Formats: sequence, structure tokens, C-alpha cells
Amino acid sequence: MGSVISVEHLRKTYGSFVAVDDISFEVEEGEIFGLLGPNGAGKTTSVEITQGLRVPDGGDIRVLGLDPRTQATQLRRLVGSQLQESALPGRLKVWEALDLFASLVPGGPEWREVMERWSLTEKASASFSSLSGGQRQRLLVALAVVNEPRVVFLDEMTTGLDPAARRATWQLIEAVRDGGATLVLVTHFMDEAEQLCDRLAIVDGGRVVAGGSPQSLIAEYGGDLQVNFSTDRPDVSFLEAIEWVDSVSRRGPHVVVVGRGPVLALVGAELVRNGIVPTDLRVQQATLEDVFLRLTGRGLGE
Ligand SMILES: Nc1ncnc2c1ncn2[C@@H]1O[C@H](COP(=O)(O)OP(=O)(O)O)[C@@H](O)[C@H]1O
Ligand SMILES: [Mg+2]
Repeated sequence: MGSVISVEHLRKTYGSFVAVDDISFEVEEGEIFGLLGPNGAGKTTSVEITQGLRVPDGGDIRVLGLDPRTQATQLRRLVGSQLQESALPGRLKVWEALDLFASLVPGGPEWREVMERWSLTEKASASFSSLSGGQRQRLLVALAVVNEPRVVFLDEMTTGLDPAARRATWQLIEAVRDGGATLVLVTHFMDEAEQLCDRLAIVDGGRVVAGGSPQSLIAEYGGDLQVNFSTDRPDVSFLEAIEWVDSVSRRGPHVVVVGRGPVLALVGAELVRNGIVPTDLRVQQATLEDVFLRLTGRGLGE
């Protein structure tokens, strides 16, 4: 395990407009790393600079030991990048696109295997414009990985997809990682980041406002946890003595315990010790949306 991408103090301006103020992050081998933030946060600018597609004003970047500013051509062979849909001519056939992309790589990888792996073989002779939304996503992913890249960049892959196609795309993304690649995922969907990313950086206004695993971010910034259960036992005041519990309240049989940290496990253990074994014990936890709200005072969609 080592650092595959290292970005330090990245800065990018367009005229007098500061698109990326100061962004730093590290991506470890084999992980799915997310850049999560609202539209205009500077995510796309940052990952395009990281791939050598745009030139930064400042900062130090290494991808697989290469500097994308001076070694973009070498880097191109080692990274896969998801195209925008608009980049493919509508009349191009599925097999033609795969053949074309494979031919750009020295040694010409076996694109028929890639076509099979992404369940596109039966659509081999279909034109891009005739594919469904989900099939198009599969082709765009297949094209991004046809050169067997070590690092794959995916930018807003699920925007505009219906819920079923989104779920299917999440499975594709996990399949790419299972194939051994390291992934950088750009998204403004907090549920997507929470579901897929091992670690992420939350970006806002051209800066990283927080970073870590989804669970650690939620634990640090998500605020209190709520533990809910029901019981006929009239007195559950013994729960108030638990160190991580802040309050216990109840309405009828429904008990709400507010606390922090390991409160769920401790409440569960204490209930069982007192002969209460609720079948509906559950915890209501904050999401990354709450984390973002806490950090910036705004929702991700605003
Ligand atoms: N080529 C460009 N010229 C001028 N402004 C740009 C350009 N590209 C991006 N921007 C601006 O920089 C900011 C960050 O954009 P971008 O990196 O695309 O953010 P994100 O991907 O997080 O939505 C936005 O305000 C955007 O309008
Ligand atoms: Mg973007």
C-alpha cells in the first residue's frame, strides 16, 4: 500500500476568479477516493489538473510518481478517464469505440474481453445513440478501463440517471475497483460518496473543508446519535448512567436515547443486562449531508 496520488496546495485561477484556492489530498492504492462538493466547488478543475488535462497556477502533484505538468504523455497510458457522453459520435458502434480506444494503447489490449466483462457483447453492433442510459454508462466505463489503467477518474457518472441505472453504475464502479484499479470519484451526491468511497475530501469554494472516511466524518461532524427502541418496562432511567448518554426521553413505549460515540452498543448491552431485549433497537445516524451542512452552513444542493 502506498500513495498513488499526492496533490499539495493546488491552485487554479481563471483571470481574477479563483476556482481552486488551496486543495490537497492523497489517494492510496486500491481505494475509491471521493471528491464531494456542490457544483462550482472546483472538483472537475482539480481532477483535470491531476490528469494533466489543465495547467495549475501552483501546487505540487504526483500521480504514480509522475508529474502531470511535464509527464502527461506517460501518465495517459496509466490512467483511465471517463468521457463525457457528448465526446462520442452517436453513430459510432460499440465495438468500433472499444477497438478505437484499445488501438491507442501500445500492445493493443484485448478489448473483446472488456466488452464481454461489461455485458456489451450483444450490443456490439449497436450505435452509441441507440443505447439506453445504463448501456451508455457501461460503455463509458468500459472505454475508461480498456487500457487496463492503474488509476481511473470518474466525474459525475450518475448525474441524470434514474435510480435503477444509478445503482447499476455503483456496481460497475465497485467492479472496477475489484479489478485492482485505484479510483477517484467526483460527485455532488452525498449518498453516492457515502456508499462507495473508502475516504473522501469534502470540497467547497476551492478548498478542502474536511477529509476522512465517511464514518469518521460522520462521527466527527455529524453531531449526536439517537437510539430508539420500545419497551413496556416503565423505568429505563438506568440508561442515564451510561457515560456516552446525554438524555433519555420516552413517549408511551417509545424510548429515545440521545448520545455520542459508542452509545448504541452500550445502550444495547445495558438493556440486555437489565432483561430488556427490544426487537426494534436502532440508531438514527447523521449522513454526509448533515456533515456538509455542519461544516458550511448550507446543504449540498444549494
Ligand atoms: N475554463 C473555465 N473558465 C472560467 N471559469 C471556469 C472554467 N472552468 C471552471 N470554471 C469555474 O470554476 C469554478 C469551479 O468549476 P469546476 O471545477 O467545474 O467545479 P465543480 O466540478 O466542483 O462543479 C466554477 O465557478 C466554474 O464556473
Ligand atoms: Mg464538475
